[in-house]
Amino acid sequence: MEHLKWWQKAVFYQIYPRSFADGNGDGIGDFKGMIEKLDYLKDLGIDAIWLSPHYPSPQFDCGYDIADYTAVDPQYGTMEDFEQFMDGCHQRGIRLILDLVLNHTSHLHQWFKESRSSHSHPKRDWYIWKDGKNGGPPNNWYSSFGGSAWEYDTLTDQYYYHFFFKEQPDLNWRNPAVIKAMFDVARFWLKMGVDGFRLDALGTIFEHPDIPDHAVKFSQLELGRKFLQAKTEEEREELGKYWEEMFKYQFNQPGIHALFKGLRQVLDEFPDRMMVAEDDDIAYMGNGQDEMDLVVNFPLMRTDQITPAWIRQNQSKRLAGLAKVSPNAWPCNTLGNHDSPRLYSRFGDGAHDAELARLNLALMLTLKGTPFLYNGEEIGMTDLMLDNIQKFRDMAGVWEYTMLTKELDMPTEQALQTVSQRTRDKNRTPMQWRNAPNAGFSPAGIDTWLPVNPNYTQGVNVADQKKDAASLLSFYKHLLKLRKETPALIGGDFQVLAGDSQQALAFLRRSPHQTCLVVLNYSDQAFSLDASTAGNKVKTLFSSIDDNSRISLSKDVKVKPYEVFIGQLL
Ligand code: GLC
Repeated sequence: MEHLKWWQKAVFYQIYPRSFADGNGDGIGDFKGMIEKLDYLKDLGIDAIWLSPHYPSPQFDCGYDIADYTAVDPQYGTMEDFEQFMDGCHQRGIRLILDLVLNHTSHLHQWFKESRSSHSHPKRDWYIWKDGKNGGPPNNWYSSFGGSAWEYDTLTDQYYYHFFFKEQPDLNWRNPAVIKAMFDVARFWLKMGVDGFRLDALGTIFEHPDIPDHAVKFSQLELGRKFLQAKTEEEREELGKYWEEMFKYQFNQPGIHALFKGLRQVLDEFPDRMMVAEDDDIAYMGNGQDEMDLVVNFPLMRTDQITPAWIRQNQSKRLAGLAKVSPNAWPCNTLGNHDSPRLYSRFGDGAHDAELARLNLALMLTLKGTPFLYNGEEIGMTDLMLDNIQKFRDMAGVWEYTMLTKELDMPTEQALQTVSQRTRDKNRTPMQWRNAPNAGFSPAGIDTWLPVNPNYTQGVNVADQKKDAASLLSFYKHLLKLRKETPALIGGDFQVLAGDSQQALAFLRRSPHQTCLVVLNYSDQAFSLDASTAGNKVKTLFSSIDDNSRISLSKDVKVKPYEVFIGQLL
């Protein structure tokens, strides 16, 4: 345990600032609100916070379009508020990492304004400007959010490149001045005392310098139509290959690892800082020391159903891959964030959602590696389907709605239904604090930036669950505490038992002085396990169903339907 770094031991909690807590009562989350909730976070038992962007932004991509990297968005407060929040975290032993968005800025960033202004401006080459071809854009590349990746600018009669929205022009990372400016941004926050960064969208930082056309014969719209018509997972997988082909010159281009080795050196100018990549490619860990500390295990959540077999297959591949990076390469697991459906909705089955949420949370806290939790997960917040396109704030959803209705002739009702299931708004609604108007997020009568999920009246809120020892929140707190007190759950290795069970996931976590047994029964049948190879008896450390003081013979460990069982071998 002692040899582990803080970020290997920590449980991270993502705060989405617009939706966490509204301190000034204007319907939007802010630092004042976050500061008021610091004791809540301490009490919950998390160790570190990943804060989604808090920088000034015109909010075309909910803050991921940054207009000034070294300031605080006035909607969220002032720099003093930020510092107060950071200090408040540190005083409570909670670390704080920020979102570092390198690929692009906002089109309203001063750098882009200058770059746009003329061909000869010294910042012209900070972005990617090209001449058009045959009266159209420079090539056939697309933006991942829809439409051409090129936006024509009348001012200088050229096109600029944007992988995301046109309001998010890509920086030209082949320009050393850009590298210097952005590395200085990192230094600015590190000097102030933040503990590291979550690196946003890193695969798209470089594009092929010759900008060759992709070779896919149909358009993005046609591909979208085929996706909508696809009936099976296989069909979708097949279509996914076209998608990859379409974007192949816009992803993972040479130069990226050298860049991150440089950024690592910037972090290493300061003691004890970390970086986690929003990507699943463990190549971003370099040799295990010279790039990212963590790369998120996104493959685990790319399924509609978390099953024991799926988890085992994922872990075996992931852990083997990490071992090749370096013997110390550390895993990082998550099942939800501001871009993905809420895990309660996504991985529920409609009949046992509460049980499955507990199993999946226990999975996060017992697998080997650093867990990332998403705010609201701890009270079982669910996706909210928006019933009116005017309420959408995720412009990707609005774009899709327009395409479906205008280009693919889908009836508006059906389009709304399709898009409300896919938009990221559904999983970004305000945190539900109490059974009070607006769920206690904002005062009564205030229009919150996204609607509040009405299920706060049915117990999906912090205050009610705090009082209830059987609530999901209490379960979270209990497991977070147990993890902290159980070295094997943090540092132990991972060994699967009953490797062909379809019912339950069973594994050992072994550290030099402690071996734990974890059994997650994902089925409605009782499960029994022979764990005698690991010891004679098992003392229960935690059970979601049974009493917590059991000692059983390890050759016959009995686990009830949907039970979370954590024991220590004696
Ligand atoms: C990342 C963010 C996402 C954002 C995108 C573009 O994927 O998580 O919210 O839209 O980058 O910045």
